[in-house]
Amino acid sequence: MEHPPFFLLLVSLGFNLIALCAGQNQFIYHGFTGKNLTIDGTTKITPEGLLELTSDKNDLNGHAFFPTPMHFRSSPNSTVQSFSVNFVFAIQSFYSDRSYDGMAFLIAPSNNLSTAWPDGYLGLFNISNRGNSSNRILAIELDTFQNNEFGDISNSHVGIDINDVRSVNSSFAGFYDDKNGIFTNLTLYNGRAMQVWMEYSEEATQITVTMAPIDTPKPKRPLLYATYDLSTMLTDPVYIGFSAATGVISTRHIVLGWSFGMGVPAPDIDITKLPKLPRVGTKPRSNVLEIVLPIASAMFIIIVGTMVILIVRRKLLYAELREDWEIDFGPQRFSYKDLFHATQGFKNKNMIGVGGFGKVYKGVLATSKLEIAVKKISHESRQGMKEFITEIVSIGRLRHRNLVPLLGYCRRKNELLLVYNYMPKGSLDKYLHDVDNRAILNWAQRFQIIKDVACGLFYLHERWEKVVIHRDIKASNILLDAEMNGRLGDFGLARLYDHGKASPLTDVFAFGAFLLETTCGQRPVKQDSQGNQLMLVDWVLEHWHDGSLTEAVDMRLQGDYNIDEACLVLKLALVCLHPFPASRPNMRQVMQYLDKDLPQPELAPTRLGFSKLPLMQNKGFNPSAMSYPELRTSIGTFSGLSGGR
Ligand SMILES: Nc1ncnc2c1ncn2[C@@H]1O[C@H](COP(=O)(O)OP(=O)(O)OP(=O)(O)O)[C@@H](O)[C@H]1O
Ligand SMILES: *[C@@H]1O[C@H](CO)[C@@H](O)[C@H](O)[C@H]1NC(C)=O
Ligand SMILES: *[C@@H]1O[C@H](CO)[C@@H](O)[C@H](O)[C@H]1NC(C)=O
Ligand SMILES: *[C@@H]1O[C@H](CO)[C@@H](O)[C@H](O)[C@H]1NC(C)=O
Ligand SMILES: *[C@@H]1O[C@H](CO)[C@@H](O)[C@H](O)[C@H]1NC(C)=O
Ligand SMILES: *[C@@H]1O[C@H](CO)[C@@H](O)[C@H](O)[C@H]1NC(C)=O
Ligand SMILES: *[C@@H]1O[C@H](CO)[C@@H](O)[C@H](O)[C@H]1NC(C)=O
Ligand SMILES: *[C@@H]1O[C@H](CO)[C@@H](O)[C@H](O)[C@H]1NC(C)=O
Ligand SMILES: [Mg+2]
Repeated sequence: MEHPPFFLLLVSLGFNLIALCAGQNQFIYHGFTGKNLTIDGTTKITPEGLLELTSDKNDLNGHAFFPTPMHFRSSPNSTVQSFSVNFVFAIQSFYSDRSYDGMAFLIAPSNNLSTAWPDGYLGLFNISNRGNSSNRILAIELDTFQNNEFGDISNSHVGIDINDVRSVNSSFAGFYDDKNGIFTNLTLYNGRAMQVWMEYSEEATQITVTMAPIDTPKPKRPLLYATYDLSTMLTDPVYIGFSAATGVISTRHIVLGWSFGMGVPAPDIDITKLPKLPRVGTKPRSNVLEIVLPIASAMFIIIVGTMVILIVRRKLLYAELREDWEIDFGPQRFSYKDLFHATQGFKNKNMIGVGGFGKVYKGVLATSKLEIAVKKISHESRQGMKEFITEIVSIGRLRHRNLVPLLGYCRRKNELLLVYNYMPKGSLDKYLHDVDNRAILNWAQRFQIIKDVACGLFYLHERWEKVVIHRDIKASNILLDAEMNGRLGDFGLARLYDHGKASPLTDVFAFGAFLLETTCGQRPVKQDSQGNQLMLVDWVLEHWHDGSLTEAVDMRLQGDYNIDEACLVLKLALVCLHPFPASRPNMRQVMQYLDKDLPQPELAPTRLGFSKLPLMQNKGFNPSAMSYPELRTSIGTFSGLSGGR
């Protein structure tokens, strides 16, 4: 014999087959693909060959039986023979710390258990027949739920059940180590394959159950045994198979392999031939996770949602308008976000004034801690914005001690923001007219401010590389810095609304009005009780005619002023306010007058007062009637009739 082992193998294989076919006292399944089992309920054989007793449905059960009934006795009157069963199973729960409900190997008089209940009844019994000896069912339960009413010892136990889910004996699932005898708990529903060995000894009338993880050989010490004479209990023939049941959650109860032997040991299951277990779909989760996870995901959604809203809101909130031509103005360009934060979101409490162009807010730049005044100008996206900004920015580069520095700008849709240095002492008009709040300015301060403004305007007109026309000289646009120096603000802004022809002499005209306002402490135009407009210039002219010019000086100074300077300023004002631009001095000359480098200006005795000019009597003056276009701006500014705003 050259190959005895091969021959022996053939013989033994043939014997096995014969045994199986003839007496069906031995069988083995490595997977169940194509196998003829009697199944019901949720049971199905998966394409991989797994016998899946239950799957994704809860509160259901499933059964699978060997297709033919079996005789455990050699004759109807004889005792139940010794037999043994091996099977490999796995219980995959959606959760890592719980599972419902369990499965069992069973021997029953019938393969129709349609009246059995799921849940704790494991698909074996129901409430009315549980414990009734007429059931004649033996089951080895692998129970994953602790039903205290059935005396369950834990949520992972193995039990020997006779006619009842209340076990005759049970043990925590686990095994005893062959070497040291130490018991190791196994969690039945850990999703991994485990093997169970069950034997019945005819002689000892004893049932033993042993289990171990799939990769561990059969432990020598059984997990559990019960002494019971099955001959008194089992019918003949019997059906053998499996039952499994789910409870409130769905659990997969799977059999991977199964072998049986009657009178002979059940064949060993070759674990390498078993079908592969599916990967547990969802990662095992803990009890805590079950609660935390929905909350966490809800919170996640809320947080993400809020963030999206915030980001969108932020984008809208801080949205700006930037165009290519603005690149040159990089340093002058402020981000809306910075301005927004500097002014605390343009809060009302930070508003320091409202002008014809819009609101002015005080702010502090976060990085430099520099105090700023932000002027918010709303505008429709008008043409000429490019030219306007170009001019504003280029003027903004001017630095002079009598100009309010323009730090930069920001553009948004329909909005232009101009950023100036904050002038702590506010605007001149408040000192001249809101005397309740502030100490009135003495003459020396007023004269200094007059000279400051003249100096600033002279710089704009003649000292810069091109002529810059302010267009809006008035007390509210003259701001006072910490040292009470007068500084011109808002240069060039009027251009936004005024397309009339402006010349330096229109600025001189407005400067004249400012001189009167400052010296007389009165507004350029007043309403009398009958609603007539009274022009300050007319009133001063009258005093001049009457030779009582000093009576025009602000009464609140209580005579405490330099008469020469006051008369000089008043006369200079009248010259600047000359209806004919050509007769007005330029700012260089104004400076010279103020510095007394020139003799006091002379006024023609027959000069007409303003109210004598026909166009001034016409309140809503008619532009077509104006013969001096350059007067338009001046008068508009002067009389407060700047209707374009
Ligand atoms: N740089 C600044 N520093 C401190 N306060 C300022 C500054 N700029 C403006 N203000 C305050 O804001 C107020 C409103 O200014 P705004 O220029 O908008 O209006 P106005 O000067 O009265 O009129 P106009 O629109 O013709 O200039 C001013 O009266 C002044 O008190
Ligand atoms: C399955 O087995 C039963 C009982 O032996 C038999 O009646 C049936 O025909 C078998 N079915 C198949 C598909 O082999
Ligand atoms: C089985 O036992 C019954 C009585 O319990 C008896 O009547 C019957 O003849 C026996 N049958 C066999 C085959 O021994
Ligand atoms: C199982 O038994 C029930 C009655 O208990 C019966 O209605 C049903 O038809 C049976 N099922 C099969 C497959 O025999
Ligand atoms: C329990 O099962 C038995 C069959 O074993 C059946 O006759 C009975 O109606 C069932 N009871 C209930 C409550 O389902
Ligand atoms: C056990 O079941 C049988 C048949 O189903 C019934 O006649 C008997 O009353 C039941 N016994 C008990 C204690 O419920
Ligand atoms: C096994 O688990 C049970 C609870 O399920 C516990 O009481 C017992 O101490 C555990 N045994 C070991 C050895 O860990
Ligand atoms: C139950 O099984 C254990 C072994 O796990 C054994 O020690 C005990 O005696 C058994 N109880 C009964 C009633 O057979
Ligand atoms: Mg202003």
